[in-house]
Amino acid sequence: MLNVPVIAIDGPSASGKGTVAQIVAERLGFHYLDSGAIYRLTALAAQNQGVSWSDEQAVAAVAQYLDVVFEGERILLAGEDVSAAIRSEQIGSGASQVAALPAVRAALLARQQAFAQMPGLVGDGRDMASVVFPAAQLKVFLTASAAARAERRYKQLIGRGEVADLAVITADLEARDARDRARSVAPLAQAPDAYLLDTTAMGIDEAVNQVVAWWAKKA
Ligand code: DC
Repeated sequence: MLNVPVIAIDGPSASGKGTVAQIVAERLGFHYLDSGAIYRLTALAAQNQGVSWSDEQAVAAVAQYLDVVFEGERILLAGEDVSAAIRSEQIGSGASQVAALPAVRAALLARQQAFAQMPGLVGDGRDMASVVFPAAQLKVFLTASAAARAERRYKQLIGRGEVADLAVITADLEARDARDRARSVAPLAQAPDAYLLDTTAMGIDEAVNQVVAWWAKKA
């Protein structure tokens, strides 16, 4: 993985970093790592196996032996398509809980680093720049105001035909951000060498263009 170009994009929930990272990867012909999906898969697998999200060693064992296949847009867990199941708010909350456990993060490290393949990788998450790919050539901290993020998540859920309440979503996002920022291992934070991209008043295209322009300057 030493010479593989890596763009690390970190940021809080519902900032749009996943969408931006995916489009940047397509534009550059790079691979894409959705590291949040790996934590979500761990939470779902633990739940399926009757393992409590607070049982650090047991969840770490689940993480270690996660049977996952990424097939384009489809994600298979033990052979079952769980692409939609891992996107629920309940599993998002579980992901945030298991992600706070150091043994779980350690168990998932090599699995994430293995995504760094030629011709390059765009990884998105919370600790791409700080822990997983500290030597990434480009680091971006992509954020937006809490109100803008809650509104985006609300529209996403309504778009999927789910029942959504803006006040509940806002409270949930704030709780998740607080947990992701306060945890002792790999807390959500802007790396000192990361560019700040505030997308509160910015569309997806503009955000993608900015990341690609930063990359062009580096490459
Ligand atoms: O990006 P997301 O909402 O799919 O992530 C789900 C949870 O996983 C999030 O609350 C924090 C955690 N996570 C993490 O701790 N480190 C990462 N690199 C990615 C996600």
